Amino acid sequence: MVSLPSRLSQRVEAVAGIDPELRPATKPQFGHFQSNVALRLAKQEGRPPREVAERIVRELDLADLCETPEVAGPGFINFRIRADVLAQTVNEQSADPGAGIARAEHPQTVVIDYSSPNVAKQMHVGHLRSTIIGDCFNRVLRALGHHVIAQNHLGDWGRQFGMLIEQVVDEHLDLATLDLAGAEALYRRANVHLNQDEAFAERARERVVKLQSGDEATRQAWRRLIEISLEGFNRTYERLNVLLTDADLDGESVYNEDLPGIADDLEARGIAQVDQGALVVFVDGIDAPAIIRNSAGGYGYDVTDLAAVRRRVDDFGANRIVYVTDARQWHHFHLVFEVARKAGYLPDDVRAEHVGFGMVLGPGGTPIKTRDGGTVTLESLLDEAEEHATPEIALAAIKYADLSNSLQKDYVFDAERMTQTTGDTGPYLQYAHSRCAGILREAEARGVAWDEVGLLAEPAEQELALWLTRFGETVQVVADELTPHKLCTYLFELATKFSTFYEQCPVLKSTDEVRASRLGLVAATKQVLATGLDLLGIVAPERM
Ligand code: ARG
Repeated sequence: MVSLPSRLSQRVEAVAGIDPELRPATKPQFGHFQSNVALRLAKQEGRPPREVAERIVRELDLADLCETPEVAGPGFINFRIRADVLAQTVNEQSADPGAGIARAEHPQTVVIDYSSPNVAKQMHVGHLRSTIIGDCFNRVLRALGHHVIAQNHLGDWGRQFGMLIEQVVDEHLDLATLDLAGAEALYRRANVHLNQDEAFAERARERVVKLQSGDEATRQAWRRLIEISLEGFNRTYERLNVLLTDADLDGESVYNEDLPGIADDLEARGIAQVDQGALVVFVDGIDAPAIIRNSAGGYGYDVTDLAAVRRRVDDFGANRIVYVTDARQWHHFHLVFEVARKAGYLPDDVRAEHVGFGMVLGPGGTPIKTRDGGTVTLESLLDEAEEHATPEIALAAIKYADLSNSLQKDYVFDAERMTQTTGDTGPYLQYAHSRCAGILREAEARGVAWDEVGLLAEPAEQELALWLTRFGETVQVVADELTPHKLCTYLFELATKFSTFYEQCPVLKSTDEVRASRLGLVAATKQVLATGLDLLGIVAPERM
């Protein structure tokens, strides 16, 4: 949906010929927006700015949107949106169950590859970020009417299974009794064993061959390790309140059978070449090539992702593929996209994006680690946040902290700060929502009815109303650019404007139409906060 400010901007541009660069007015008496377009044009045309401004104002026909624009100072143009147009726009938005989010005219099929933890290892902070960010993309794109296919590209295949299963055999371990933490401990023991014992390493290699050739006992142990891991991952997903389910699982093993065919195809067409015994593809500007098949004849991460791209395009009909991982995987995805384009697996009209996110830092500003230097599990971060707040608030705090900075940036995990109900935090937005809910509850208890927004006489009311009408457009931008922090900023600003409105404009203490209209504005604010928080994956509580 095109917001009022955007409509205004387009109309002014049509007359002025250049972007009017509307800025919010600095004082209510200057209206809502100000433009210096005449000053810029005056320079080009060599005419007095006020004269240019007056000519633009004369040529503009904005009567359906604005009061008559005013020329101010050296040649600024001030615009004031008509209060009735503003009220009507808010009311239309409130009547829309989507709160002004317009469904896409041409819905796309969007594959989002996220979370993607590794079997027999607990999820760490990187997976936390991937899961939360991917979940937000999923919600935002769905809200716009796109067909979203979530893909949990589980690390469920590879050489590590050789040593894991041999270690199980060595220890006579009963896999029925193991849980994810136990599997991770097994992983560590197997790794140590592998590095110390060449005979064990050889058995592990043989075990990989057995796994690949479909040996039943081996496959059974492998399946059980996946099952154990999924039990753990699913508990975390539930705790995180995200949309992922088992139906979204397409782990690396899914592509196993496609890999030799891809290697043959790339080699036959001269896209891949043999280099030091390995089959590789070189890409301009990157030193290390994509490994299609290693010198031992094995297949790895790069080629598996090529197979995944091909399936997502050919079988799923993806128009857009989004990968959410640690920024350090930039190199890998850059390679995969380039090779997939060369090979024709990724046609030009399919958008492929790697959204690389920054690290989570500890209080010292260094990457967060456990006391003994290990990686921090996601569960332990949730536990830490829950020391400061209820689970619902702690989760809101973590998600908001994760989404409210530009994703590429590292951020400091400060459980105490992010659980505060003041400042730029998730709980602050939840609190604003619960305040709206409280006001409406109180009105109901007193038998006071609320109505559509009507009289918007006060600047603080107008500010709030104007901001409300920009919601749909904001969500659109977030979907295009994959920048959730812009939604966070929007909502934070909304909560702040609501606060100012509530300080300056009595709601329940006013009377009649004013009260009914202000309650309408509170209801509209509540709707946008609830919808926006939901897009971030954050619960909007009625009470706090
Ligand atoms: N399992 C990988 C990791 O933990 C992430 C996989 C990301 N997705 C992909 N298609 N490569 O780092």
